Amino acid sequence: MESLPRGAYNTEPGRSASHEIRPLAGVPICVIGGGFVGLVAAAGFVQFGHTVVCVEKDRDKLEQLRSGSVPFYEKDLDSLFRDAQRTGRLTFSGDLDEAVKDQRAIFIAVGTPPADSGRADLGALGEVTEILARVLDSSQIVVLKSTVPVGTGARVRRLLEERAGTDKVASVINNPEFLREGNAVHDFFHPPRIVIGGDRHEAVEFVSHIYRLGMTHPVPIVVTNNETAELIKYASNAFLATKIGFINELSGLCDLAGVNILEVARAIGMDPRIGSEFLNPGPGWGGSCLRKDLLELSGLADSHGYELMIGRSVLEANLRHQEYVVARISKLVGGLRGSRIAVLGLSFKADTSDMRDSAAIPVVRHLLQAGAEVIAFDPKAMPEAPHYLPEVPLAADAYEAARDADCVVILTEWQEFQLLDLRRIAETMRHPNMMDARNLLTPELAARYGINYASMGQA
Ligand code: UDX
Repeated sequence: MESLPRGAYNTEPGRSASHEIRPLAGVPICVIGGGFVGLVAAAGFVQFGHTVVCVEKDRDKLEQLRSGSVPFYEKDLDSLFRDAQRTGRLTFSGDLDEAVKDQRAIFIAVGTPPADSGRADLGALGEVTEILARVLDSSQIVVLKSTVPVGTGARVRRLLEERAGTDKVASVINNPEFLREGNAVHDFFHPPRIVIGGDRHEAVEFVSHIYRLGMTHPVPIVVTNNETAELIKYASNAFLATKIGFINELSGLCDLAGVNILEVARAIGMDPRIGSEFLNPGPGWGGSCLRKDLLELSGLADSHGYELMIGRSVLEANLRHQEYVVARISKLVGGLRGSRIAVLGLSFKADTSDMRDSAAIPVVRHLLQAGAEVIAFDPKAMPEAPHYLPEVPLAADAYEAARDADCVVILTEWQEFQLLDLRRIAETMRHPNMMDARNLLTPELAARYGINYASMGQA
């Protein structure tokens, strides 16, 4: 690597800047992609003390960002974004060629959604890499923050070498994110570990220092190669889906065996080998990542002639669990045809407006296919609902949805559903049935208001 500009880094006396690099002050960073991951990282890096230009190609989003507003809902991001803008060290650009000039690290946080095949669609990453190949030099570091298939880091490096020549190639690092929607800001500032994969020591060290500058407490940094960093991300999401799928499946057995899943989950979670997180049964896991990453991991295995039986079964079990929830609703109302179902919650989980791969979509579709009439309400996802469920009328609130309903079905764990006035709900319904697929309430509480209550394993 060429020697780094002096002054920006605290180098050991007598050692060249290209070796012991420790950014004393912030460094110039470019983040490509102003979505959920990119924007949290951009604003977070500014809070660490760095100077960030965030590139967003969508003109409307770019204008919103430049005018100081976040173009989507994510808890605590508005205030983080405002704090970052107030420093004057967060700017936005729509011109990638221009934005990457003189940046030390270029974090790529573009979407890698599933293609029809189920494998990751790397079109956006390819476009960005072609541009970077034209403008980057070997003192710069490309950091893949997007979730990318195993081997992508190496392919990006090869493409940069082909286009730019091996002597000019920037380093390529994988630095996957583990941010949960609705918790992304918290997760960015409280990571259980940071994963950095790459084969050039200086580049790995440099990216480590980008994080260390912002650390108020020591956070383990896992240093590995590109491929391992890439697989860690997929393995993490596949395991999370497996764990949720397990507790969902067990909740069905608990319904039949008359056992309370909450006590089972609490007790097994006390074992540090299991852990208490992600043991809450629900209508089925969703979101833009878990299924996508399970499919990509299974696809990788298939490409090696190796079957991920557990991975495949987790995908299948999730679909079956959604059907199980519909069967429970049908049993409550004595058959779905002609019944009126009020669905409370459409987003794939609370604290987000995101309906991507939400369990509510297949559950509602099953209800409609079975001849039920469905009306829905969600505190945040109403603007998205018509895109996914255009045939479903939307109510202004939970009580309007429940009016004359034969069953209220809670599918998302919004806190306001936990605080519902159950007397008012029961009185406004045609028949006071409730399927609480998130165990927000309890059988005892429902019984107090004469509600015929079903839940997930709270037998
Ligand atoms: C997930 C991973 O958690 C995160 O690390 C990764 O970076 C992106 O994918 P996210 O998609 O935001 O994050 O959702 P998550 O909080 O993991 O929940 C996924 C789904 O599982 C949601 O539908 C949620 O409701 C469900 N879930 C989660 C449960 O049903 N029970 C649980 O105990 C936890």
